[in-house]
Amino acid sequence: MKKLQIQGVGGLSTILVGEPLKNLPYYLPVPNPVIITDENVGRRYADQFPPGHVMTIGTGEGIKTLETISRVYSELVAIEADRSCSIVGIGGGIVCDVAGFVASTYLRGVRFGFVATTLLAQVDASVGGKNGVNFGGYKNMVGTFNQPEFVLCDLDLLHSLPEEQLQCGFAEIVKHAAIADAGMFEALEKDAAKASALDPQVIERLVYDSLIIKSTIVNRDEKETGERRKLNFGHTFGHAIEKVTGVPHGQAVSAGMVLAAGLSHQRGLITASEKDRLCALLEQLNLPTGMTFDRDAVLEALGKDKKREGDGVHFVLLDGLGRSVVQDIPLAELRDHLSQASP
Ligand SMILES: NC(=O)c1ccc[n+]([C@@H]2O[C@H](COP(=O)([O-])OP(=O)(O)OC[C@H]3O[C@@H](n4cnc5c(N)ncnc54)[C@H](O)[C@@H]3O)[C@@H](O)[C@H]2O)c1
Ligand SMILES: [Zn+2]
Repeated sequence: MKKLQIQGVGGLSTILVGEPLKNLPYYLPVPNPVIITDENVGRRYADQFPPGHVMTIGTGEGIKTLETISRVYSELVAIEADRSCSIVGIGGGIVCDVAGFVASTYLRGVRFGFVATTLLAQVDASVGGKNGVNFGGYKNMVGTFNQPEFVLCDLDLLHSLPEEQLQCGFAEIVKHAAIADAGMFEALEKDAAKASALDPQVIERLVYDSLIIKSTIVNRDEKETGERRKLNFGHTFGHAIEKVTGVPHGQAVSAGMVLAAGLSHQRGLITASEKDRLCALLEQLNLPTGMTFDRDAVLEALGKDKKREGDGVHFVLLDGLGRSVVQDIPLAELRDHLSQASP
């Protein structure tokens, strides 16, 4: 088990990588928490939950709404939960986002923590203190910044994840190594097969290293103005591809990272062989390095990206493997690159 502590907006947050769900009672600020989970996680793992009131939400991005939040508030009122209650989200990124938002707003805020059950939630959604829901067709439009008191990452739970869910986590792991840690990138190249097979030691180190990178970047820039933008590597093209094709986030981000690496090479920041190494690593982790899509539709989605300012986009480029820079790139250049790079 590896432990990491980060200073968030609301206080200190302890993250435990490799700590089993059954040890949750040791970390609860008060016994009998309100547990928020989803149908899949509840069905598989409720027998390992500690005593407490369990609220089950549905699954899928479509339930990350104010209606769901409202239902949870109603249930909290019905069970007369007061300011002394604590909330634990046990699930993936959606459960964590919902539980974090509810806990940050119910009675102006109650204590909360997470048990992150997907690889994506462990390496990405569990740190950074962002939570919230979708609104009016836009993702994550309403929310708060508030870091949970504790996060448990039980690595055994990852074995029941579908392949495309694992891909989502691995895409963010590669992203973290590529933008900030050449040593981690090399280690990942060496251990890719073990990582895919969920070797406990390799996964524990990858989750821990990812969390260090994300939390270091976030701590330098809690409200996402400069440094934090680096975490969007692969996501400008990735979000547009995801929106247009409907492929899972991890696959779209993987293809987006390859496009961004191509642009980095074009701008003289990485060599062709460094770009090839990124592609080879993604392939080893069963992630796609290219994709067919409606180029015009992706270009249109790019133009609507909320990271856009004027005619330019704050775009994350690699500056060697393990380093990154944010540059303002004109939309027209992104268009040209997409036209050259996509089939
Ligand atoms: N707050 C943040 O900083 C942050 C960062 C990244 C992503 N997110 C959000 O996270 C969400 C995506 O998270 P996700 O990929 O974890 O998706 P998710 O929460 O929808 O979980 C994916 C699926 O896996 C199931 N599942 C969860 N744990 C399981 C397990 N151990 N075994 C089997 N099935 C399991 C879930 O029921 C769900 O069907 C998005 O809404 C995204 O916006 C938030
Ligand atoms: Zn992502």
